[in-house]
Amino acid sequence: MKRWMFLSGLLVFVFGAVAFVQPANMTKSIAKGKTVYVNNCMNCHMEDGKGLEGAFPPVAKSDYLKRAPKDLISVILKGQTGELKVNGVVYNGMMPAQDYLSDEEIADVLNYINNSWGNKNIKPILPSQVKLLRP
Ligand code: HEC
Repeated sequence: MKRWMFLSGLLVFVFGAVAFVQPANMTKSIAKGKTVYVNNCMNCHMEDGKGLEGAFPPVAKSDYLKRAPKDLISVILKGQTGELKVNGVVYNGMMPAQDYLSDEEIADVLNYINNSWGNKNIKPILPSQVKLLRP
């Protein structure tokens, strides 16, 4: 067998295995993220993720979630104040930093909101990405 055939076969195998393993990890992360959400976010963003118009922006079907993962991580790590437009509505509130959460909890809660209430983003946010953004 030629070397390149072996190598490309190996690549297909590795990517196949990653594609297979990832959803299982993601399912776990989303499930853990729900607990983090209920304990730390639900008071403001509500159980159905719809928030409270004018005061707390929705995380359900929020166009903000289309931003880069680093922006989402930063909202949790640093909080968010000042004007912010979500789904065409302007908010000018204050979200306290939730930096007491662990890297893993932050990744999990973001994976949860990214995949709940009709939101769909199968690309996982990883604890290592959170770690990099900590001050
Ligand atoms: C004390 C209330 C409060 C808590 C608790 C809270 N948030 Fe927020 N959140 C806000 C407010 C208010 C804003 C908008 C701030 C502004 O107007 O600049 C916001 C903005 C956001 C945004 C960006 C805009 C959007 O709606 O998409 C995300 C994402 C978000 N919060 C997620 C979370 C997550 C996840 C948690 C739990 C780890 C959480 N929040 C906890 C009040 C809260």
